Amino acid sequence: MRDRARYLPLKNKSVLITAGGTKERIDPVRYISNDSSGKMGHALAEAAYLNGADVTLVTSSSLPVSSNIKRISVESAAEMYESVSSRFDSSDILIMAAAVSDYSPETTSTKKMKKQDEMTLTFKKNKDILKEMGHRKKTNQCIVGFAAETDNINEYAKKKLIEKKADLIVANDIGKDDRGFNVDKNEVTFFSTQSEPQIIPLKEKIEIAKDVIDWIIKFIN
Ligand code: CTP
Ligand code: CA
Repeated sequence: MRDRARYLPLKNKSVLITAGGTKERIDPVRYISNDSSGKMGHALAEAAYLNGADVTLVTSSSLPVSSNIKRISVESAAEMYESVSSRFDSSDILIMAAAVSDYSPETTSTKKMKKQDEMTLTFKKNKDILKEMGHRKKTNQCIVGFAAETDNINEYAKKKLIEKKADLIVANDIGKDDRGFNVDKNEVTFFSTQSEPQIIPLKEKIEIAKDVIDWIIKFIN
């Protein structure tokens, strides 16, 4: 872990960050998840800490975090919702970098399910954490969301910005192999209500994280 700089623009700011792909249990040995590694969220936590913030990372990833960051490990979208919801009102900034599962199995078996010739699972929709916090947001709070898209990035990202009442949506094209989920680099576009879309060219996630934190610092000042 590097030392913090002397000028700490996020000093006394409480930053809540989510990371990783949630896991939705089918039974004790099986779950539904997605390809998110948690790298982006963990990089954001380090970048926020280096700028002086008091950082809480709610994560479903097994990646490490430095001891200066408060880690809350969760597994499911429901657990992530509870962790975020109970801390949001006392946070200045929320960054939803997690790939939250949109659905979870209607029922979870406490015993390992035995194989059959056919099997059907039914799912229920999970709560949209970002949207709910966006609608609960006070004027002094800042919310950043992500949008992982394979197509129509502009249209979908703008829709998420408005519907979830976020201040910034960081959109990335997950249709290309060298960026996005489970790799070290990413190319993203910043969508905000304040300015035209801003393309951040392909670079290491830690560098993207710094750009996101810099955007937040400008936004809150
Ligand atoms: N998100 C959330 N809760 C959910 C689903 C998504 O908080 N149940 C957040 C993600 O953390 C991300 C943003 O919403 O910051 C966008 O997630 P994404 O999956 O791209 O969008 P969805 O609204 O779920 O729409 P879709 O998957 O259909 O594109
Ligand atoms: Ca989704």
